[in-house]
Amino acid sequence: MEIMVTGATGQLGWELARSLSMLGRVRALGRNQCDLNDPGSLRAVVRDIKPDVIVNAAAYTAVDKAESDRGGAMRVNSDSVAVLAEEAKNCGALFVHYSTDYVFNGEKGAPYVEVDPVCPINTYGYSKLSGENLIRQVDGNYLIFRTSWVYASRGKNFLLTMLNLAQTKEVLSVVSDQRGAPTWARDLAQMTLLSVYKSIHAIHNNSFKSGIYNLASSGETSWHGFASYLIEEFKSQSGGGAGQVLVKDINKVTSDFYKTDATRPAYSKLDATKFEDEFQVFMPDWKDSCRLCIADIIAGLTR
Ligand SMILES: NC(=O)c1ccc[n+]([C@@H]2O[C@H](COP(=O)([O-])OP(=O)(O)OC[C@H]3O[C@@H](n4cnc5c(N)ncnc54)[C@H](OP(=O)(O)O)[C@@H]3O)[C@@H](O)[C@H]2O)c1
Repeated sequence: MEIMVTGATGQLGWELARSLSMLGRVRALGRNQCDLNDPGSLRAVVRDIKPDVIVNAAAYTAVDKAESDRGGAMRVNSDSVAVLAEEAKNCGALFVHYSTDYVFNGEKGAPYVEVDPVCPINTYGYSKLSGENLIRQVDGNYLIFRTSWVYASRGKNFLLTMLNLAQTKEVLSVVSDQRGAPTWARDLAQMTLLSVYKSIHAIHNNSFKSGIYNLASSGETSWHGFASYLIEEFKSQSGGGAGQVLVKDINKVTSDFYKTDATRPAYSKLDATKFEDEFQVFMPDWKDSCRLCIADIIAGLTR
């Protein structure tokens, strides 16, 4: 199988390039080989590779910047996604795509399921929802995975930012009035491997059903809860050997404390039961995955 992965330098793309190699030849493409800022250029990229599966991990993920660059966010998260979905359909490939908890407004107060009404409250969420809708309109073979609060042992993410701050500051202030589920990019990549494997078989047996699935860790917390847990874990796993933790207090603050250009939903926990039932797996608890990711980071620091 030829598997085309876009956004290969990102948190998820990097993990996908490793996981999916068990299924076939992975063509891991960075921005230079596959630029979603230029939707028109993508057709030739796909036609050249003739993939059996396209996994689109590229996205405009700068949530605040998107507020002043709506055109850029729409080009990458919507226009280009439609082109990739069309090209996947034309060459008979399965199209795998990722969306976000930010398609919801956060007012439900209970875990979101796939059929809950969408209502993005920021431009990023709007652009991702538009991408979802276009994939559905193209109507090829697709899987859309909505996920949340993605982190990894590399890249730019909340977990690495907090570890860095914990080693340079004595007091941290972290938002406690937004709740969701931190999700490890490696879990997403491994669940993608499994679902692509099963889907390819289903396509060959004419039993495949395209669909949208929530794919996020089980459990939930606030950004403050996530920060407190990961810093404690880092301290206990490193035993002081991997980097000195200076932080003594982690204060709870509300979202108004940090003025950001984009508004974020107050509650965006995604219920992954549909995915778990369909693919016969369980999404790990966010704490278990966080612990394993920290172990990876410490192994890298002490190597
Ligand atoms: N991060 C989260 O918290 C989060 C939450 C919910 C959903 N998601 C979704 O999960 C998926 C994976 O996100 P992630 O966390 O892996 O994001 P990430 O670490 O920010 O990676 C995004 C990737 O997209 C690439 N990219 C951006 N603009 C591009 C362009 N014009 N052309 C080609 N590539 C471009 C980036 O390339 P460069 O390295 O060159 O910039 C990077 O490789 C995305 O669909 C995202 O919307 C993420």
